[in-house]
Amino acid sequence: MKSEILSVLRNTEGYISGQELCERFGVSRTAVWKGINQLKNEGYQIEAVQNKGYRLCGYPESISKIELESRMHTKWAGQNLICLDSIDSTNDYIKKLAEEGAPHGTLAVADYQSGGKGRRGRSWVTPHGSAIAMSILVRPKLAPEKASMMTLVAGMAVAKSVKEVTGLDVKIKWPNDVVINGRKISGTLTEMSMELGAIHYIVIGTGINANVTEFPEEIKDIATSLILEKGEKVDRAAIICAHMEAFEDFYDRFMEYGDMTLLKEDYQELLANQNQQVRVLEPGNEYTGIARGIDELGQLLVEKEDGSIVKVYAGEVSV
Ligand code: BTN
Repeated sequence: MKSEILSVLRNTEGYISGQELCERFGVSRTAVWKGINQLKNEGYQIEAVQNKGYRLCGYPESISKIELESRMHTKWAGQNLICLDSIDSTNDYIKKLAEEGAPHGTLAVADYQSGGKGRRGRSWVTPHGSAIAMSILVRPKLAPEKASMMTLVAGMAVAKSVKEVTGLDVKIKWPNDVVINGRKISGTLTEMSMELGAIHYIVIGTGINANVTEFPEEIKDIATSLILEKGEKVDRAAIICAHMEAFEDFYDRFMEYGDMTLLKEDYQELLANQNQQVRVLEPGNEYTGIARGIDELGQLLVEKEDGSIVKVYAGEVSV
């Protein structure tokens, strides 16, 4: 149905009413509405105006390999680059490449994910042509228990690159959610493969709500996007390339000590709740305190009312 609707929208000057679409295809209003939403999810911009109908006003904009390659100024991050129109999950895709021996720094970018994965078993929506979904493969010589800090490194790189490209006031909500005005614009999922107590490889997958204008009901109050915050479309390719440059720099600094020693200060400058009250949500244990930055292991330091400092390793923090 969506391709028929698309073809009518393409060939219509101005608006076409929902009723006319129903009649033309002999389908219900709901079927038309679903078709329109599917097209929007694939990156088509469709204006809906009451008493007028629908109008196609923009096409998906894909990110091409040639464009990224011509703008990527890194030594290793993203130098081996794969651009995909559509994939289930870039993390799963990179894992397969890693098993086949792909080099450190291999990056996969997808224009659409049909099964994007979030942290804690949640799903992650990547609408066609408007979001950023990317996963990078790294092969560090590092103790496996330190791998989770890569998520913080990636979060810092997102915050830095988005700030640089858009000028927006970007912050990090520990450990790695990147937020603007308290709403999430990006998340990172890190997955590791290890053998005999050593890291085989790590896949760091990052999603950024770049030009996304609509969110599923369940997250619409906590998520935002760069286009919504900036009021204009952002250059996805510029963000990906800036992100790779920042990530490469932060990663190299991380690897000097194998921890956050050289990144702690930069991280704290980006921390959304630094010196503010936070609520720590650990399974079976919730408490409030003041966020006092992170230690070299990336643990959030929370000062409780009695002055004691708790190091938060896992769990979630809310304002
Ligand atoms: C989170 O829950 O905050 C983490 C979201 C991570 C989403 C990204 S999008 C690219 C990569 N591929 C996936 O399937 N997930 C990550």
